[in-house]
Amino acid sequence: MKTVYLETFGCQMNELDSELVRGHLESLGYAFTAEPKDADVLLFNTCSVREHAESKAYSRVGIVGKRKRAGEKLILGVLGCMAERDGVDMLRRYPQIDLLCGPGELDKLPMLIDNVVRTTALEISTMNDVQDRVALAGNTSRRSAALSASADDLETLDLARAFDPDRATSGVRSAYVRITRGCNKFCTYCVVPYTRGAEVHRPPDSIVEECRRLAASGVIEVTLLGQTVNHYRYTHGVAVTLDGREQPQIGPGLSAFRNETIEDPNLTTFAKLLARIHDEVPELARIRFLTSYPKDFGDDVLQVMASRPRICRYLHVPVQSGSNRILKLMNRGYTVEEYLQFTDRVLEVLPDASIAGDIIVGFPTETDEDFELTKDLLRRVPFKNNFIFKYSPRPGTTAITRFEDDVPLAVKKLRNNELLVLQAEIGAAVHADWVGREVEVLVERLTNRSPIAHGAPSAADPRVSLGTALAPPMRGPRDEGSELAVQVSGRTPGDLITVFQVPTREQAQQLLGTIVRVRIEGSGPLILHGKMVDVDAALQNELRH
Ligand code: 5AD
Ligand code: SF4
Repeated sequence: MKTVYLETFGCQMNELDSELVRGHLESLGYAFTAEPKDADVLLFNTCSVREHAESKAYSRVGIVGKRKRAGEKLILGVLGCMAERDGVDMLRRYPQIDLLCGPGELDKLPMLIDNVVRTTALEISTMNDVQDRVALAGNTSRRSAALSASADDLETLDLARAFDPDRATSGVRSAYVRITRGCNKFCTYCVVPYTRGAEVHRPPDSIVEECRRLAASGVIEVTLLGQTVNHYRYTHGVAVTLDGREQPQIGPGLSAFRNETIEDPNLTTFAKLLARIHDEVPELARIRFLTSYPKDFGDDVLQVMASRPRICRYLHVPVQSGSNRILKLMNRGYTVEEYLQFTDRVLEVLPDASIAGDIIVGFPTETDEDFELTKDLLRRVPFKNNFIFKYSPRPGTTAITRFEDDVPLAVKKLRNNELLVLQAEIGAAVHADWVGREVEVLVERLTNRSPIAHGAPSAADPRVSLGTALAPPMRGPRDEGSELAVQVSGRTPGDLITVFQVPTREQAQQLLGTIVRVRIEGSGPLILHGKMVDVDAALQNELRH
């Protein structure tokens, strides 16, 4: 049987897709390796949101090309949004690629690999057999009336995810659960509505069942995923199979949010879904969700969050710009004032909530004045962090055809850096607020001995490197005496990265995937640091004996 190397680029949605692909292929007997050199099937699950992620993936494709030309017998598959966007043209430009599989067609991947194995064995692989090597939604992905059969199959892939019985012992106790695919928003800069297609909502029963099964396999934290997660809504009695099972459903138009019908018993809103998961899966210690769209976020959701303690008070709610003129060109659908009303409302109902966001600098025509307005907005909201992106024109989007990319790269870079510095100040104040308090931390990883000096607690998080560079050196009383102490990091319910020391590596390993109480003693722009309350008690006990 073949050994597979699977690398993921881009967002959490891709991470989940990769996890599902891996589970599916493993169930069919494929083995996985973390080393590309040990694999005979190389799969890149790609992202098209920004050019940078694409260039990285292409450089990997180039490396595999060299290996193939040197005579290695490898199968190379490109999955995800780049495959969907570039289509078969990619096969022509990069003959080393054997198969393409769009994000909406991942259930077909084993069949595609099989086809390539057979045709390669017979040495008949040519551009003529393209249809056997490609699964893309193409322009069928935006059917509005009914769901295509492929979307139903995708639901099967979500439902059939592997429930790893080793999760509880391996420390991996956090999982993503998709509730909505695709996006109906069409922000002018964004490829997602084209690569992932129209909004499709999964039936609530399937979602709750998936959460229940994950909890039974040891998961204590789920993160519900959707591009605009608060747009989740499912109308019952519409899409049902003959045996009565509900099917995924195309989302209603955005107008559905203007005439609120949240009391309708036939409707499961996002708020009702959150409440169901919280109440029906009590084993889950944490329920989080990503990514929120600042409009159409009803008070009903905030009320459910306020009344249910295991729903994390954390919102990732991108604002993108602080200039109304730019927001309009972006087709974001709200004004700065509406965004601020929203964050004020959040903090009124949930004073402890953490808010994070995304900002794009250098959108076409962005002036110094527009940029100043973005800085004003940042100063107005206590953002725990912001992902900051330089505008990158994406083929196929409205912005690339309608607007010239007229902000020079040097200006984009300056604005990017200026916002990073400002956000570091804001983040430092937000984090400093927690000093002296006790928080619950889900322990995720052992970090290097001195991560503050040498590296980031989470290398996957591009923002953390800034935090580590600016954070004060972390030195506690125990540090000086015990060179063996191990540093671990995790997150609070508000998604604040927290690091603390544990006396031994063994204890640190035992704590992975558990929730511990930590007293916060210091902070930086992106992290908290403190002492574990229970370990102190345990150590004092030891001393007394
Ligand atoms: N250029 C720069 N940033 C982008 N994003 C999406 N598309 C682009 C683009 N073309 C950013 C947005 C979004 C995040 C996932 O990526 O800020 O919220
Ligand atoms: Fe892209 Fe806008 Fe949809 Fe987010 S809401 S995925 S930025 S189109």
